[in-house]
Amino acid sequence: MVSLVLSQDLQHKAMESCNKEDALHLIRRDASGNDFLGWIDLPKEITIEDICKIERVAQRLRRLSEMVIIVGIGGSYLGARAVISAIRGELSDSLPEIIYAGHQMSQDYMHALLQRMDKKDYAIIVISKSGTTTEPAVAFRLLKQHCEAKYGKNGAKERVVCITDAKRGALKSLANNEGYDTFVIPDDVGGRYSVLTPVGLLPIAAAECDIKQLVQGAADMKISLSHLDDDNMALQYAAVRNYFLRQGKNIEVMASFDSRFYYFIEWWKQLYGESEGKDGKGLFPAGLLYTTDLHSMGQYMQEGQRLFFETFLSLKHSNASCQVPYDESDMDGLNFLAGKTLEDINHEAERATILAHEQGGVPTIKLEIEKMDEYHLGQLIYFFEYACGLSAYMLQVNPFNQPGVEAYKNNMFALLRKPGYEDKYEQIQAAVKNLL
Ligand code: PA5
Repeated sequence: MVSLVLSQDLQHKAMESCNKEDALHLIRRDASGNDFLGWIDLPKEITIEDICKIERVAQRLRRLSEMVIIVGIGGSYLGARAVISAIRGELSDSLPEIIYAGHQMSQDYMHALLQRMDKKDYAIIVISKSGTTTEPAVAFRLLKQHCEAKYGKNGAKERVVCITDAKRGALKSLANNEGYDTFVIPDDVGGRYSVLTPVGLLPIAAAECDIKQLVQGAADMKISLSHLDDDNMALQYAAVRNYFLRQGKNIEVMASFDSRFYYFIEWWKQLYGESEGKDGKGLFPAGLLYTTDLHSMGQYMQEGQRLFFETFLSLKHSNASCQVPYDESDMDGLNFLAGKTLEDINHEAERATILAHEQGGVPTIKLEIEKMDEYHLGQLIYFFEYACGLSAYMLQVNPFNQPGVEAYKNNMFALLRKPGYEDKYEQIQAAVKNLL
């Protein structure tokens, strides 16, 4: 089981002072955003038939390709990337290779991807709930043309799968027109809460990860969070975050001693940043990977401004073992470590860091995960989603909208002269010139 480790004293202070009444909106489903609570029941609603359908399509994509390209941005790709990279690890040479597109606008990245597509057989999973987001839409236009040129219209039909809204959006009409396989994102599930829908499950299955175990982990976590009493781990985490925020700790640093958590932390950053950062409120979610970042940010963490608290995402057991060998000459002076595993050393580095940071004035809490596998990742995903809903309602913000994301889009559309934005062009152009 995933477990939250925090001192009795902190737990007591946080629970005593937390705004539990507001957190209860998540359970009562009676506050703004309550039309986006479909993710709460997903783990028990996903049927074996749903899983089998996803696995069948994933199998076909794997059979046809050496490379699966996932097109999406934000909540439409981060959950899948978090799980796939945590399971496969950085040095994986598993097939099919999983590549991402539409999560940025770099021209050089796209150019390199198109060149790779010349050489390799591939499939494409394109994900957009709105079906109109510029980054994935532009990427998909390029990829679709490449796919049709390489495999023909019929070949493309086998290789392209769309995941989008049931009825609305350009991607839906395009998929219908072309006859692509389509999966639906439920109306009441927002992007960053959609890992346990086909948005996350199809790419994860395409990477040959075990989606049954992922869903099972989430389902078990759901059960363990079902009573909102003082032992509820998600309530404790939400209460602690809000407690630290009131103490002037404006940043939560999520730190891990395992690099496989890199994209998981990216997913967590989006979940909390987009859910809470509104109305001038919210902790700023930041991420660090140790020991790597102890050699770049360690100095700041130890002695810089005391702006943050730190949550350690801690892995108890590695999947493989690697021991420091004994060396007769001991020229490097490391024989004191001979016989120890890298895991032993990493765990002591973690304990040493927690103590040093506490002594340096950084409050710390820890989330322990038994093992890096789909089951435990499923638990962690559901835990963070649930705690995020509670935490945002405690903060009295709607966890499920993201109105602020429109500001840059409106400016960009005006500058790019998108139809409908013509009137704004002069004004935005002048404002930008004044600034830059
Ligand atoms: O969490 C969210 O809602 C966002 O991050 C979206 O997932 C992101 O903006 C992509 O939107 P869409 O799936 O509509 O292309």
